[in-house]
Amino acid sequence: MLTVVPRPVAAIASAKVNLFLGVGDLRDDGYHDLETVFQALTLTSTVTVSQAERMGVSVSGEGRGEVPLDSTNLAWRAAEAVAAAAGITASVHLELLKGIPVAGGMAGGSADAAAALVACNEFFGAGLGREQLHALAAGLGSDVPFSLSGGTAIGKGRGEQLLPVLARHPLHWVIALARGGLSTPAVFRELDRLRAEGEPPRLGSADELVRELAQGDPRRIAPLLGNDLQAAALSLMPALRRTLRAGVEAGALAGIVSGSGPTCVFLCEDAAAAVEVATELSGRGVCRAVRTASGPTHGARLVPEEH
Ligand code: C5P
Repeated sequence: MLTVVPRPVAAIASAKVNLFLGVGDLRDDGYHDLETVFQALTLTSTVTVSQAERMGVSVSGEGRGEVPLDSTNLAWRAAEAVAAAAGITASVHLELLKGIPVAGGMAGGSADAAAALVACNEFFGAGLGREQLHALAAGLGSDVPFSLSGGTAIGKGRGEQLLPVLARHPLHWVIALARGGLSTPAVFRELDRLRAEGEPPRLGSADELVRELAQGDPRRIAPLLGNDLQAAALSLMPALRRTLRAGVEAGALAGIVSGSGPTCVFLCEDAAAAVEVATELSGRGVCRAVRTASGPTHGARLVPEEH
């Protein structure tokens, strides 16, 4: 009997940076209400799904060796979620090519999950629409819905309620990858602890930033970037202060910790300035590696098949 093995399907998803991350109080469910502005950056992970006798994950690129290869991997859970929605049992191999730092505050695991949702939807012929994929994404993690949709967006709730934002011009970023990672729950806990001691001050609203994003002048956007989690990330990893200072001394318009960190991101005037800042920062020894990227870019999408 002839068995037809379906062709592998690949999907790609992008890193995120929070241009603004206002953190509210701890909720009863263990999450914090957020007002955030996400932007998807051109730093990507690719997930390729292929037929296998049993579920499995392999990883290459960023963080190889640090990522779980079992059912706790977010991409694995995404594949099972799509299979369950399609009424089948998942039995696939997921190959992750990671270009986003692990535990870096750039939604690396969420990007894997979003790419796995899109790739598995196609591979299983599940036919799930945008809203169904969004619901599965929200069940996997707070940042997964944004990794699915990309662009620039306001996030409310625990980050899963999204509203697109007009960002007229591309923004150019330098990304300083740190040595080691930070656990997101630990950074939120540290913020709660600092707040219980009466510090640090809270960010206001993202409204002015959203207005300036529509105008697109990086010089006016830079002073409006902000992250309530930054004080907590710096408290847990004080060396990041040097990284932030070095980026601005190297010519960036502004630098912030990305999400829960420890990756630091620097907004630059244009693409040429970003290359200069990246070169200068690389020589300072204040981080593990330096990348340049621009945003906004797409959410998770299929990689066209080569013919
Ligand atoms: O949703 P996700 O699994 O990515 O969240 C990881 C952890 O980060 C949560 O368990 C919680 O401790 C913290 N978190 C939070 N408030 C949010 C998002 C995440 O406290 N809005």
